Amino acid sequence: MQFGPVHWRNPLELGKILLTENQIRDRVVELGQRISEDYAGDPPILVNVLKGGVVFLADLIRAIDIPIRIDFMEVSSYGNATESTGVVRILEDLSQSIEGQHVLIVEDIIDTGHTLKYIIENLETRHPKSIRICTLLDRRGRREVDLNLDYVGFVVPDKFVIGYGLDLAQRYRNLPHIAVIEDEEIP
Ligand code: PRP
Repeated sequence: MQFGPVHWRNPLELGKILLTENQIRDRVVELGQRISEDYAGDPPILVNVLKGGVVFLADLIRAIDIPIRIDFMEVSSYGNATESTGVVRILEDLSQSIEGQHVLIVEDIIDTGHTLKYIIENLETRHPKSIRICTLLDRRGRREVDLNLDYVGFVVPDKFVIGYGLDLAQRYRNLPHIAVIEDEEIP
């Protein structure tokens, strides 16, 4: 049995395409190359923030050509709401020590920055060699805390986005592209 690309029957049924599969793929390859060069000789642990970041991570690591490791954290800040509450809880923690290691946090999207600020402060107590941030999307119009993002895929407008890992009430993470939904379209 052969698997080919999935064609969504009606990809525009919900929202408008903001970033196509090809645009995302090209940018992920660029980020992977930069990360490979920047960390050559001392590969980092990529700390992925579930669940939204998992699609990005899966593609990003295959664009990196140095022997990195990966680990996962799951935190919750949104529940099923579409706005950040600023409340962060650790649902799942890392499975390995990061002491003395370079850490690269991989996120799907940064909004207010509260989630990331919390994660950085938490990881700093474990004495890593360094912590840097890689996010596919930067919705910087919503930022409430000061953050230095080291690797950014795309800066996106202050609109609700779904697909490529990003959800609407836990659905649409499997869209291969990223679409924008207007407020009145949110069920
Ligand atoms: C999203 C995203 C970040 C966070 C960013 O996760 O993955 O972790 O929100 O928001 P902030 O900058 O305002 O803190 P979400 O809570 O939606 O969980 P998910 O990845 O499981 O969808």
